[in-house]
Amino acid sequence: MPSSDSQAIESGLTRSAIFLVVSLKPAADSVAQVQALLADMGALVRGVGFRIPDGQLSCITGIGSQAWDRLFPGPRPRDLHVFQQIEGVHRAVSTPGDLLFHIRAMRADLCFELATHIMSRIGTVVTVEDEVHGFKYFDDRDLIGFVDGTENPTGQDRHDATVIGDEDPAFAGGSYVIVQKYLHDLAKWNGIPVEQQERIIGRRKLNDIELADEEKAPYAHNVLTVITDENGEQLEILRDNMPFGRPGSGEYGTYFIGYAKTPSVTERMLRNMFAGDPPGNYDRLLDVSTAVTGTLFFVPPAAMLDNAADAG
Ligand code: HEM
Repeated sequence: MPSSDSQAIESGLTRSAIFLVVSLKPAADSVAQVQALLADMGALVRGVGFRIPDGQLSCITGIGSQAWDRLFPGPRPRDLHVFQQIEGVHRAVSTPGDLLFHIRAMRADLCFELATHIMSRIGTVVTVEDEVHGFKYFDDRDLIGFVDGTENPTGQDRHDATVIGDEDPAFAGGSYVIVQKYLHDLAKWNGIPVEQQERIIGRRKLNDIELADEEKAPYAHNVLTVITDENGEQLEILRDNMPFGRPGSGEYGTYFIGYAKTPSVTERMLRNMFAGDPPGNYDRLLDVSTAVTGTLFFVPPAAMLDNAADAG
């Protein structure tokens, strides 16, 4: 069992989220100011969230590879690295980011309030790389109209898939997260007959029932992202994708976020999607969805974050 409690990775999906990715400015005082914020994150979440208990406010903070050594001098999490671009049939870009704040709540105002406090603490020492305000769309659909999140692992499986244990004891209780912001060409997608859309996703659109194996296309999203280890055990990740957009600007997107105890699982899924498995058998979702960001973070156990101000 992990020696240390995790951040709120397993706290469950919510109706609202803000995904905030920032980079540290080079200035010498950036580090101390960010370390002080990291140490106060628990208190800030309690301060904002306590007033609205049903709001289920939580925040998961991730640290990028390049920022790790500045913020936490000393040992490094075993699998922490900069997200590697994938050049396949489609491209999964790698974009900068030192810190991820994954803020979740049942209400947008709680997410907004916490993001405001975070930025008031570190706004002068960071550059904002990306900020996305996500919302739940009807019955957990993404903007391409499919229910998203159904096959997420639950209970012990979810814990086992996401939380580092004995394989990296100094970082037990931690996790890894990869984020990608996708923009959809909705006109193109909506021009595809629903039966073909269902073959691309591998599920029925209206009722979310999975297609039978013999009905699935070899390139179905749930063929390429269902992967197993050498013993045939399924390798899973925990996703909390959120729709976002600005209809007035024609922007329609899905913010992909995937937690796993090693980033190699998510990376393999991504290679299958972008390069194909076998190569060339790629995910047709990518013909209408473009990844415009891609960043990898380590999610320290809660106590490590609490002690960030003493990290040196
Ligand atoms: C445009 C971005 C994406 C969209 C719109 C999307 C949408 C969906 C939908 C509708 C499902 C079926 C329902 C469900 O089980 O959740 C699904 C399943 C899944 N997706 Fe995605 N997805 C996206 C990107 C990704 C990425 C980048 C990964 C991994 C790196 C991924 C991994 C998975 C996995 C593991 C499943 C479950 C498969 C199963 O067990 O049946 N998805 N996705």
